[in-house]
Amino acid sequence: MALLEVKNIKKHFGKTEVLKDISFSLDKGEVLAIIGSSGSGKTTLLRCINFLETPQAGVIAVGDEVLFDGSDPAKKKDKEIRKNRLHFGMVFQQFNLFPQYTVYENLILAPKLLAKEKLKAGETYMGESSYRAAVDKIKEEAEQLLEKVGLTEKRDEYPCNLSGGQQQRVAIARALALNPDVLCFDEPTSALDPELTGEVLNVIKGLKSSDSTMIVVTHEISFARDVADKVIFMADGVIEEEGTPQQVIENPQSPRTQAFLSRFNRFSD
Ligand SMILES: Nc1ncnc2c1ncn2[C@@H]1O[C@H](COP(=O)(O)OP(=O)(O)OP(=O)(O)O)[C@@H](O)[C@H]1O
Ligand SMILES: [Mg+2]
Repeated sequence: MALLEVKNIKKHFGKTEVLKDISFSLDKGEVLAIIGSSGSGKTTLLRCINFLETPQAGVIAVGDEVLFDGSDPAKKKDKEIRKNRLHFGMVFQQFNLFPQYTVYENLILAPKLLAKEKLKAGETYMGESSYRAAVDKIKEEAEQLLEKVGLTEKRDEYPCNLSGGQQQRVAIARALALNPDVLCFDEPTSALDPELTGEVLNVIKGLKSSDSTMIVVTHEISFARDVADKVIFMADGVIEEEGTPQQVIENPQSPRTQAFLSRFNRFSD
């Protein structure tokens, strides 16, 4: 069974149809790269999957749990939407760290709040049934995540004292701290100077080897080719072409995919 199943998602803003019947699935440990021109609906799709936008129709399921079935979200409780969101981690183009907290505090803040909430509701948090034990575990994990993204020495710095690449690596660690099933990236390197993109892409590559399931919206075509198991090319709110990187990037069949990629080839190398 697929880890993530997205079926027949439709989203419009007023009269603008942005997503026209999008379907795909993702297995555990797979990396999906989404490419496509500006305005094709990539961010909107990620925002729908993360419950930051509500589609007008479709199904979103993680494992055997249907999180969205097209029914009126106004009838859903906030608590339910927040619970749905926990299946996903989101890393934005603009890092979005909490500027008033240190790197380490950025990592432990949300997990601590969640632990408090869960324990209050009589549930365990990561197998721990007392707040103190849960917090100890959260702190231990935060230290491990800092090591994973290579920022242990920046633990007590504030975001304003970090480079863009370092801030983005903190944002990745922060998303991982909530143990999401699927980690989503929306152009994680496009706000960075070219010399800083490599360090962020390397962290994402490293996550692939630790079996994270990821969706990466990116304009880094060679990165998509090297890291993705599946590639989707979006155009005007539809999946124009999908397949392995060899199929979509090396050997595109659709004229629109070919035209899009030829623009990149002209600028790269
Ligand atoms: N909140 C909104 N209200 C109205 N229209 C929107 C909204 N969000 C997105 N759109 C429209 O939806 C379309 C798709 O936008 P989206 O941001 O998903 O594209 P994108 O593929 O991520 O583009 P880019 O590569 O530039 O980031 C655009 O025409 C955009 O103007
Ligand atoms: Mg976008």
